[in-house]
Amino acid sequence: MTFMQTRKRVPNVHFQNSLRIANNEETSEIEIDNLQEAKNKIKELEKKLQLIETKLNNVVNKNFPIVKFLNYKNRKRILVTGGAGFVGSHLVDRLMLAGHEVIVVDNFFTGRKRNVEHWIGHENFEMVHHDVVRPLYVEVDEIYHLASPASPPHYMLNPVKTIKTNTLGTINMLGLAKRVGARVLIASTSEVYGDPEEHPQSETYWGHVNPIGNNNKIFTMLINYLNSLVKLLFLGPRACYDEGKRVAETLSYAYQRQENIAVRVARIFNTYGPRMHMNDGRVVSNFILQALQNHSITIYGDGKQTRSFQYVSDLVDGLIALMASNYTQPINIGNPVEHTIEEFAKIIKDLVGGTSQIVELPAVEDDPQRRKPDISRAKKYLNWEPKISLAEGLRKTIAYFVKELQRSKNSHFDNNLKRPFKNDHDIIDQL
Ligand SMILES: NC(=O)c1ccc[n+]([C@@H]2O[C@H](COP(=O)([O-])OP(=O)(O)OC[C@H]3O[C@@H](n4cnc5c(N)ncnc54)[C@H](O)[C@@H]3O)[C@@H](O)[C@H]2O)c1
Repeated sequence: MTFMQTRKRVPNVHFQNSLRIANNEETSEIEIDNLQEAKNKIKELEKKLQLIETKLNNVVNKNFPIVKFLNYKNRKRILVTGGAGFVGSHLVDRLMLAGHEVIVVDNFFTGRKRNVEHWIGHENFEMVHHDVVRPLYVEVDEIYHLASPASPPHYMLNPVKTIKTNTLGTINMLGLAKRVGARVLIASTSEVYGDPEEHPQSETYWGHVNPIGNNNKIFTMLINYLNSLVKLLFLGPRACYDEGKRVAETLSYAYQRQENIAVRVARIFNTYGPRMHMNDGRVVSNFILQALQNHSITIYGDGKQTRSFQYVSDLVDGLIALMASNYTQPINIGNPVEHTIEEFAKIIKDLVGGTSQIVELPAVEDDPQRRKPDISRAKKYLNWEPKISLAEGLRKTIAYFVKELQRSKNSHFDNNLKRPFKNDHDIIDQL
């Protein structure tokens, strides 16, 4: 019986009296019981309705971060591919706060809705579930093309797809830029320099990339064995990513020359910060996670290889400055302060505290020995250089990891408390 039917059948006082007058006491008592039951049911349903309305109100009247007002002339429509990822989501925050309209396109391979959920429902924000390997038709003024897995375990998981994303995906974005006359910024990488023979790496260096990876069978078997021991998904060489990004750069300049597209190319160096993937096998996340859990901090090789790490907000400053500039050649965006992996492990261990030991494991295939950007170009043409110190950035990142670890523990705890839903009706009943 439906809710409305129940309501119609509720008898009024006159009707009840007439029943009594008819002296059919037994029937009337049953009717009164039914009436009480119906009233209780209505009350229960009304409560549920109220709860659902409150939930809906909370979603609609969400407390968004306050964004700047930009008039029609200054407000841009900006597409961020890979906008639900680590770097993309920080870029989205900055563009939204500046008052622009932002469209995020992501296939959620490594990105998460949670990274941008604070904007969902905002009138300036739109999120599209889409794979850039397929063409996209939207009207925009600028495109930040960041869609691509960025860490070795992610891009090595499906090397062919990584190549497609960086080639077909880039062609689609350049094609879109051509169609709508948008300016496009390509997120390239320091990996285009491969295992560099020049140090520090300036943009004029052509790189030293192994295009096929190591084919030595014994070496590969050893790596696979070690990977299974440490439970990492190092399934193959880095070439799918390095060469994919190199082709993305080549495509950008071919479109620039042939189709007169306004392109900007950022060669991004190692970046860290909140929202980075906890289990991506990269140095920062590995070390922080290991230190927070009092596990051994594992260094691959002798730890003398160097890296330079930039904090994510510095990178976002650089990307926005590059998009706004007239500079069209590739440009390094990274922090030139260089640390050996060993030093880095010690810094993190000290910041986190705890009882972790630092241990050495055999080196990983194609792992570059030295990485440090020459950022003279960025300083000269973008007036940009990193501002956040390693200690400050690491503190923020460690705080994020602590929350994430807590969250995963709590959600496990919550799930244990909740009883499983039997079916879809059960879900609605428990709303
Ligand atoms: N983080 C770094 O240290 C670093 C260094 C150099 C270059 N980069 C470049 O910056 C960009 C962003 O990196 P990140 O660290 O934020 O990585 P990320 O994995 O967190 O973000 C990449 C995003 O792209 C999305 N994506 C992947 N393939 C896609 C596809 N085919 N279609 C649509 N979306 C797709 C993912 O779901 C994810 O949201 C990447 O292009 C990466 O190569 C990053």
